[in-house]
Amino acid sequence: MDKNKRPDSMKRITTTKLADSFISEKIAEVREQVGDKKVLLALSGGVDSSVVAALLIKAIGNQLVCVHVNHGLMRKGESENVIEVFQKGLNANLIYVDATDRFLNLLSGVSEPEKKRKIIGGEFIKVFDEEASKLTGINFLAQGTIYPDILESDGVKAHHNVGGLPKDMKMELVEPLKLLYKDEVRVVGSALGLPDKMVYRQPFPGPGLGVRCLGAITRDRLHALREADAILREEFEICGLAEKVWQYFIVVPDFKSVGVKDDKRYEGWPAIIRAVNTTDAMTATIEEIPYSLLHKITNRITNEVEGINRVLLDLTPKPIGTIEWE
Ligand code: XMP
Repeated sequence: MDKNKRPDSMKRITTTKLADSFISEKIAEVREQVGDKKVLLALSGGVDSSVVAALLIKAIGNQLVCVHVNHGLMRKGESENVIEVFQKGLNANLIYVDATDRFLNLLSGVSEPEKKRKIIGGEFIKVFDEEASKLTGINFLAQGTIYPDILESDGVKAHHNVGGLPKDMKMELVEPLKLLYKDEVRVVGSALGLPDKMVYRQPFPGPGLGVRCLGAITRDRLHALREADAILREEFEICGLAEKVWQYFIVVPDFKSVGVKDDKRYEGWPAIIRAVNTTDAMTATIEEIPYSLLHKITNRITNEVEGINRVLLDLTPKPIGTIEWE
């Protein structure tokens, strides 16, 4: 049996009851796989790794060691939030690693999307391996891989959870969610008692802002992207769209256009708004954002973010556009 293929007989997890039996099954499987060894978890703070963390805390308690790597491609405030929620809220055994310079130096000058993904994924594993070697008795690496990651690394994109693993990785994988679709992961998360705010937060790709800062990443453009993204999130929260829209973010391409500011020529990057709805990330439709809100966001981004001089809206559904631009 192919362990990476969802059996036709597997019921879609839509209720707490179905989630509870999935959880019991996985707890038993994880205990069997892991024994009394320790597991290192790549805790990005997104829905998938958060649900894995909650599941593994339930299954193996303090045998779980969570590592949050700040790869320098996080959204504004995201790493701080992970520390807050997991260290304080869930009492998790959490190690924080700031690897910003390491990642950005490796990515310098790299413009090809799949190469960027592979670098980020590969470096992630290296950092974890290094952390693991500082600890004793770590034999397993847990990941928040979900089914679309597996399906889509078959030719569309190499998701870092799947495509970037080096052949010589020393740890065995624990991937309890790998046969679930996103909507099922959320049901499981709720059944595990995670707060709605965490379970229904928008997904954030492993490579983070790295695949939204198009082409070769530069620190100044990455900074502009992060600030513009924070404004978009803030405005969506104020008007109630944050709970309604599945995923929304800013993309900043690597070209400039001519603008004018304070009566002077002002060349800047465009910020592209993408806001999509979907249930399983395999297809997606476009959220209709009110024009008044678009004007407000445009004003704020062009006034507050250094280096951005235009704001554009992406109206492309999936297919034909994937959700991320890279
Ligand atoms: P696409 O762009 O393939 O995205 O339509 C579908 C969903 O997957 C997320 N995504 C990723 N997640 N590593 C991840 O962990 C990745 O490399 C990656 N690429 C895309 C994307 O944000 C969307 O939710």
